[in-house]
Amino acid sequence: MTNRQIVIFDTTLRDGEQSPGCSMNLSEKLEMAQALADLGVDVIEAGFPIASPGDYEAVREIARQIRGPVICGLARCSDADIHRAGDALRDAPSRRIHVFLATSAIHREFKLRMTREEIIARAVAGVKLAASYTDNIEFSPEDAARTEHDFLCEVVEAAIAAGANTVNIPDTVGYATPEQYGATIAMLKNRVPNIDRAVISVHCHDDLGLAVANSLSGVVNGAGQIECTINGIGERAGNCSLEEVVMAIRTRADYYTCQTGIKTNRLVPTSRLLSNITGMYVQRNKAIVGRNAFAHEAGIHQDGMLKERRTYEIMCPEDVGFAKTDLVLGKHSGRAALADRARALGYELSAETLQTVFEEFKKLCDKKKEIYDGDIIALIEQGRRELPAEEWSLVSFEVTSGSGRKPHVRLTLRRGSQEFTEELSDGDGAIDAVFLATEKITGIKLHCKEFQIRSTSLGHDAQADVTLVVEYKNQLYRGRGVSTDSVEATVMAILLAANRIAMERR
Ligand code: KIV
Ligand code: ZN
Repeated sequence: MTNRQIVIFDTTLRDGEQSPGCSMNLSEKLEMAQALADLGVDVIEAGFPIASPGDYEAVREIARQIRGPVICGLARCSDADIHRAGDALRDAPSRRIHVFLATSAIHREFKLRMTREEIIARAVAGVKLAASYTDNIEFSPEDAARTEHDFLCEVVEAAIAAGANTVNIPDTVGYATPEQYGATIAMLKNRVPNIDRAVISVHCHDDLGLAVANSLSGVVNGAGQIECTINGIGERAGNCSLEEVVMAIRTRADYYTCQTGIKTNRLVPTSRLLSNITGMYVQRNKAIVGRNAFAHEAGIHQDGMLKERRTYEIMCPEDVGFAKTDLVLGKHSGRAALADRARALGYELSAETLQTVFEEFKKLCDKKKEIYDGDIIALIEQGRRELPAEEWSLVSFEVTSGSGRKPHVRLTLRRGSQEFTEELSDGDGAIDAVFLATEKITGIKLHCKEFQIRSTSLGHDAQADVTLVVEYKNQLYRGRGVSTDSVEATVMAILLAANRIAMERR
């Protein structure tokens, strides 16, 4: 049986980034794009260049700096969009333009107000214009899953004749079911005369929780490319989750008889990187990358596992990038042990970063006896988000709070060489009080929209990992801080968000 190679088209930086709370700045997108290249994705959809100057710049920089995968930019079937995408992608050695136009009756009638003929003409013109920039062209009939079959065949045939070599079949609103979606792919394979000249791609949204199942059904019926995102982020309920679809294909290779080029032991580190960047964490029981994905709680399962792992485990945790055991480090552990553990957790640290992380590790050892994987990950990830010297940083804080009285806070921050102190008795708790003091010093009014506090490891001396989202002038900004003291972690998270606001204001 021959194993077909399935193209993994990652759209974390485009469809994924479109979802609320997932926006990333340029350096975060570059870091994520490098991680996707290291993961082994075939295509990175880096953004929608016409959407904003930031999107354009991100696609251009990813095209310039990231090597390995094909770099793709999205465009509507309009001249301005396609020129902008072509321009942003110019420096990529291997580039693709992805043009799309809605085809379903509901989109034709209410959104586009275009006839079928007009749509075919616009799609063909779009593909032809894209061909002046690259010979790697993808065409998507948006809302394909709800498009009449006859018309879908016509559009797909015309797009291929015009030069599209990938035709993507989006289930834009996550309405399809696995049998139905698979049948649509099979139908296109059977009815479109020039279909052999293109790869059929699947692009499924998760509104009914069926994105992975629908994508796999598409593959069974002949699709050769899967569009997906890390942690399944994306519009509304998200897109097909890369880690789930890839591990389904790998674990059930007997059934799917195909393979991908994904280095599966990079799945967990890549998922963590995205969570760390966006502040959007996966649920504990998330398949493949959730904390509990390989945890066996029931006694009967544990007994089975001890006798023969395969009784209750269909994949090895190491295959997806979980480190073997939660090895405990402590104050006697040296730099080499720390570097080793970091490597096992998926982080290759440069000598310089190792030095910084090691210094922080030693400080942490003075505060807590046992250092777990979660603590090490937090140290590494905090270290990577160092801010320039001109930003606000914490010098010291004191907070007292108690029943029946206003909390009291004394907060000192530094910016450049200057220190600023604020002392107040206000707010309805310690967290509220530090928010108010930070606002007073920085002059930035912060509306807290989300606040989460998690523990990075075990025990009540564990580090607190605080993530928050604040609103400032109708924009959302994220912050994150990690410390053994949850109030200190909160101040750090507030400062990160405030610094992001200050940076944007500058
Ligand atoms: O869901 C969708 O239809 C899309 C297209 C732009 C491919 O994301
Ligand atoms: Zn989509």
